Amino acid sequence: MPDKPVVERKLSELGDTTPERVVARFAEVREEFDRQAVTHSNDPESWRLFVIYWTGRKSGVLSQITDNWLKPASKELKPIVGQELNKLKTHVEATLEEKRKEIEAVAEQSAAARDQIDLSLPGVERAIGTRHLIRQTFEELQRIFLSIGFRVVEGPEIETPYYNFEALNIPEHHPARDNMDTFYIEGSRGGHLLRTHTSPMQIRTMEKEKPPVRIIVPGKVYRRDNPDSTHGYMFHQIEGLAVDTDITFCDFKGTVEYFVREFLGPQVKTRLRPSYFPFTEPSAEVDATCHICGGSGCRVCKSSGWIEVFGAGMVNPTVYGFVNYDPEKLSGFAFGLGVDRLAMMKYGISELPLLFQNDVRFLRQFP
Ligand code: PHE
Repeated sequence: MPDKPVVERKLSELGDTTPERVVARFAEVREEFDRQAVTHSNDPESWRLFVIYWTGRKSGVLSQITDNWLKPASKELKPIVGQELNKLKTHVEATLEEKRKEIEAVAEQSAAARDQIDLSLPGVERAIGTRHLIRQTFEELQRIFLSIGFRVVEGPEIETPYYNFEALNIPEHHPARDNMDTFYIEGSRGGHLLRTHTSPMQIRTMEKEKPPVRIIVPGKVYRRDNPDSTHGYMFHQIEGLAVDTDITFCDFKGTVEYFVREFLGPQVKTRLRPSYFPFTEPSAEVDATCHICGGSGCRVCKSSGWIEVFGAGMVNPTVYGFVNYDPEKLSGFAFGLGVDRLAMMKYGISELPLLFQNDVRFLRQFP
């Protein structure tokens, strides 16, 4: 930087008393300006200070030269000082203007780069999840029953013993309660339990609605089972109930066969095996030909060729008594599908726990 003193002093004090000395003095100042322009050009803040240092209105170098060199100059030197000062000013302004344009262009460029969409870049890949196999199975089962006129209703998982047992014709000390031991909620008036099947919704629905009734009930159920490869403390069921004035055992059998064929495939045969449920009479286990060996006998079906698929039967007239339905006029059938078991059969899964461990390597196999 030129010594502040240089521009603060008069030319006469500096000994610049001839035109040659004046020209040389201005040349020096200009060189100094050029040098500084280079060293301050990289950083915006230092450039800003540099501009003020040279062009600041009161104490900028150019103002100082005007005040200290031009104004007090002798008559003879004044024209040459004025001329040199003008040249310097023009040079300074041109240099600053050039740099200003450069800065603007760079800013514009980076703004443009920011706005530009590069269509050749790979997109952001979002992992798309899948519905859990149990959910998929529910939906498939629901699709089948909705297509033949059933409607979906849902009910509470915390039930009263009345709906879970009594109204289903399972009185307090009936042995049928043995394999439906469950979790009881303490302290609630009248006692509550986690429902052991979706059958309570048969009662709740018939209590509320007049026949005809045609419902399915998807949901979770609970039992005090010891966990192993086919048991857990919770599993999934879909209950079915159809009650009307003219429902026969043929309707029951036809519905069951239609469902099994839709779900497991047309090659699968069904058979009804006598069974017992307090709330159906007659009761049956529905068996299907083994999906692994096709009925010839294998390890999965224990060489029988058949696999037990679900429990069902004609609604026991006693049940109608609990819901004020006329057993003389009405008839119907009910079934209870084990959703987890059906999923395991259909997809050849041997371990129930796999369905609940949420291991993505397992789940990914069922997109
Ligand atoms: N609720 C029975 C069970 O969970 C299944 C079933 C439902 C049987 C409807 C007959 C009729 O074992």
